[in-house]
Amino acid sequence: MERIDKIISSALNISRSDARALIKKGLVTVNGSAVRSISQHVDENSDELFCRGEKITYSKYVYIMMNKPAGVISASEGKGEPTVTDILPDEMKRRNLFPAGRLDKNTTGFMLITDDGDFAHRILSPKNHIPKTYVAVLDKPFDSIVAEDFEKGMTLGDEVCMPAQISALDEEKRVAQVTIRQGMYHQIKRMFSKHGITVEELKRIKMGSLELDKSLKEGECRYLTARELEEIEKKIIATNCI
Ligand code: URA
Repeated sequence: MERIDKIISSALNISRSDARALIKKGLVTVNGSAVRSISQHVDENSDELFCRGEKITYSKYVYIMMNKPAGVISASEGKGEPTVTDILPDEMKRRNLFPAGRLDKNTTGFMLITDDGDFAHRILSPKNHIPKTYVAVLDKPFDSIVAEDFEKGMTLGDEVCMPAQISALDEEKRVAQVTIRQGMYHQIKRMFSKHGITVEELKRIKMGSLELDKSLKEGECRYLTARELEEIEKKIIATNCI
């Protein structure tokens, strides 16, 4: 059960006080009867809600997979620069959405956007070591010395990285698939940079066991299914590299 003003505010992406004003004007109905009390609780799964004659669909939390384009900030506030929440389609926008995790401005790929703080906390917690897989295009090939350093768990200054997986996606070894289990600042770029290699392009293709939907073009997004959501917390790593 959830308070009606909270549901209306969230579903219509309006403030709680604007939602209360609509309720007080008798414009919101539950199962055919106008609601007058802003504190009425409704069952979001079984009660039928309408506002000004339009059906309200509501879920407590939403989970959105976005194929983040380059040039967009992974934050809810961009201080003048476009953010991943700014570029959501209007029908998906709602209050309190934030990106669960960070990608650099020029990194593309799998970005999870939600309003479920507990879920985000779980998948971002360093203790949980959720694997994240990236494809990195490099300015020069990587060799076995680089691969060994990735795999044993390299040090970056006074920070210690957990063992990472690396494999080549091309003959020349200039395109690498890398899986890391932490979210250190610029982690992949710094890991390659330690070996004199510059990452020219970086794309996240997987979180946990869930792959970025290949049908999503850059800037596009869709809701996750309940089953897909579980995949994010699974730590199995499929290796499908050459
Ligand atoms: N590592 C990086 O260097 N950048 C990202 O955006 C993500 C991982």
